[in-house]
Formats: sequence, C-alpha cells, structure tokens
Amino acid sequence: MDSDTEEKLLAVSLLSAAARHDNVAVKNLLRNTSANVQDAETGYTPLHAAIASCGVDEDGTTALSREAAAEETVKILFDNGAIWNDLDKNDETPGCIAYRLGLKNVYRLVVDAGVRAELLLSKLDGIKALEVEDEEDEDENEEEDEENAVDGTDESGARKRQKLEPEAPAEAAGAEPKVGLANDPVSTEPPEDYIDHWDSNADYLRSSLRYTDTTLLDSSSNAVMMDWETDIMGRHAEGLLPTKGLRAMNIGHGMGIVDTKIQTHSPLEHHIVEAHPAVLAHMKKNGWDKKPGVTIHEGRWQDVLPKLIEQGVVLDAIYYDTFAEDYKDLKYLFEECVIGLLDPSGRFGFYNGLGADRRVCYDVYKDVVEIDLLEAGFQTEWEDLPVPQIEWEGVRRPYWNVDVYRLPLCKFVD
Ligand SMILES: C[S@@+](CC[C@H](N)C(=O)[O-])C[C@H]1O[C@@H](n2cnc3c(N)ncnc32)[C@H](O)[C@@H]1O
Repeated sequence: MDSDTEEKLLAVSLLSAAARHDNVAVKNLLRNTSANVQDAETGYTPLHAAIASCGVDEDGTTALSREAAAEETVKILFDNGAIWNDLDKNDETPGCIAYRLGLKNVYRLVVDAGVRAELLLSKLDGIKALEVEDEEDEDENEEEDEENAVDGTDESGARKRQKLEPEAPAEAAGAEPKVGLANDPVSTEPPEDYIDHWDSNADYLRSSLRYTDTTLLDSSSNAVMMDWETDIMGRHAEGLLPTKGLRAMNIGHGMGIVDTKIQTHSPLEHHIVEAHPAVLAHMKKNGWDKKPGVTIHEGRWQDVLPKLIEQGVVLDAIYYDTFAEDYKDLKYLFEECVIGLLDPSGRFGFYNGLGADRRVCYDVYKDVVEIDLLEAGFQTEWEDLPVPQIEWEGVRRPYWNVDVYRLPLCKFVD
C-alpha cells in the first residue's frame, strides 16, 4: 500500500472511531495520524465527528450517555493537538455543533480549549513581536537610524469592528475623507474598490464615511456603527457613571450615541477621542465642540492618550469603542493607557463585539479578555443584555450573530 492510501485509511478510521466514541481505537490511531484530519465530503475533523454523532433524539434531547462518551473522546482529541475552531463544509466549528445540539459539557470543553489556544497564541505573538523589535533594534544600532523604530500597534492587522477571525486582505484605500449626505441610497453592487476588511486602522482613517439616519457606513457600506446598539450604549454609560459630576472619556465618537448617553449623567469633564476627519466634521456640525465640559481630542488614541498621561490627567470612567482595530489594540489600551489615566476607584468599559459573529468565539473571547484584564489588574463584572432583531438593510454584511450582548464593567482589583 502506498503512503497516500495508508494516510487516507488512517484518517477514515480515526473519523469513524471518533464518531463511535471508541476511545481505545482513537488513542491507537492518534499514534500514527493527526488529530486534525478532515473528511473530504463533510469537512468533519474527528472533533466534529465525535460531537455530531451524539445526534438529537426524537424528543429533541441528546442522550446523556452519548454526551458523556463524547466528552471523553473530545478530551483525548484535545490532548493530542486537535484544533478547536476548524470549519466543516457547513461553516460550523465543533463548538457550533455542540451548541446547536445542546451538549453543554462538550461545549464547555471546546470553549476551554479555545481559551487555552488563544492565550497561547497571544503569548507567542508577543514573543514574536519582541523578537522583531530586538532585531529592529540591532539593525537600528548598526545603522544608527532612529527613525525606523517599529510601532507595535501598527502591526495589529486588520479586523472589522471587534472581529476575531482574519479575513481576505484589503486593498489600499486612497479616497479622501468626506461626509456623505444623509440617506444616500446604498448600492447593492459592491463598488470597484470594495473592502470588507481594513488592512490597518490607518487605511480606515483615510477612507470616506457616510452617515444615514440609523447608521455610519464606510466606503464599502460596511457598518461602522448602527443605532440598534443604542440601549447597549446607554447601559455602558450607566455602569460607568454611577453618579453625576464625574470625569469621563469616550474613545471613538461614531454616531455620538454613547456620548449623548454620557451627557445625561452630567459629567464634570467629558473627553472625546476621535481620529476620523469625517467624524470630527460631523461632531462639529452637531455642536459637540461647544458643549460645556466637553473636550475633543483629535487624533488616534494611541497618540493622544500617552500625552494626557504625561499631563497627569485623571479620569473616573473610560469607554472604548473604535473600528478597524483588533484585540491586540484593546489589550494594549487597558495594559498601558487605562492604567495610567484611571482613578483607583474608576471604571473602564469597552464595546464587546469580540467574536460576535459566532457564539463559540464570543464565549471564548469573553474568557480570554477576562483573564488578560485580571493579569493587568482589573476585575470584570458581566451583564447579559438581549440583542434585538437586527435589520441589516443597506449594510454590506452583518457583523453580529449572537443573541446576547455580554457587557463588561471593569474596576481595579481590590
Ligand atoms: C463604532 S464607532 C463608535 C460608536 C460610538 N460608541 C457610538 O455610540 O456612536 C468607532 C469610532 O472610532 C473611531 N476610531 C477608529 N479608530 C480610532 C483610533 N485609532 N483613535 C480614535 N478613534 C478611532 C472611528 O472613526 C469611529 O468614529
């Protein structure tokens, strides 16, 4: 038998043993084949097979005995390097199937494996970034060229608002920023320069934006902000500003929804950090620059906040909700900037759309961010809010696919 045929036979055997929860056979087969083989027809990995085979009984429930057997198989697969979020041909991860079938224990095993994997990846990323910096430093020393210093935050890569999974690379956006007319009709055809994923925050900040009555759209009609989030913004503001007369900061003005909510709590100081020229123009048109107590800081928060820390600014509440940034940016914010600006009894909150296009990713990232926050010295309280039925009309692509919004409220650990 040639090696190709042998590999295929092993893969088929492993998928079948995983589906039968035959753990002795699974362990034996894993000595000679990867835990991440995929069925050519269904795209199932052994994890998918082990979980999907639990099935659902006629009364809509899954036999507990089958779930218990699957748990053991799933543990063995994870111990042998199974990847938690491979997709099958139905665009489902193993966790999606476990959630759909109501397999709570198996689902938890997948979420825990996802958290471990993401934390490890982020540590490895950090080490890689440090190595890159070291190499650059050496080069710099050799060349004595100070101007080539690496700005780690520019390396963050492209994510739409709080998106986790990488998408197709973006093309360069060259258009000048402009504010479109309210209620411009939205074309259903992708424009020639269609971008569904900004390659960098800087590219987004150079692009054109358009306000409608209910949304803020980028040049490809992707939603930067939508008004279905109004109640969520209101709840963030309430949690962050429990009394009147506090010193507040919002990072990312967008449609001004959260800033309007913050105003209802009569802050003593209200700092708004915004970097997009079109949003800044919109803010001025709406008189935000004339409101008592409001200070607009024009520029990227990455540039603005270190200066405020140097000036000794102290705040009671900081809220973060930007666009075309990713988890690394949020982590840098709370590790490096919030710590320097927040009063010891202050509160920090952020828009939690991390992984919100897939339930299992949303649950994994809730735990990842909570662990990273704790490591930075913050404890987090979570409040679950229902997500309303969303009208995606006029928006290129939905960015939310979970029925709950998990709202974080962070304070320094006592
Ligand atoms: C999702 S919107 C914020 C929505 C806002 N929470 C509201 O209630 O309307 C994101 C905002 O962050 C701004 N932004 C993106 N990157 C930024 C950066 N690096 N620094 C400051 N603002 C940024 C965008 O221009 C946009 O106005």
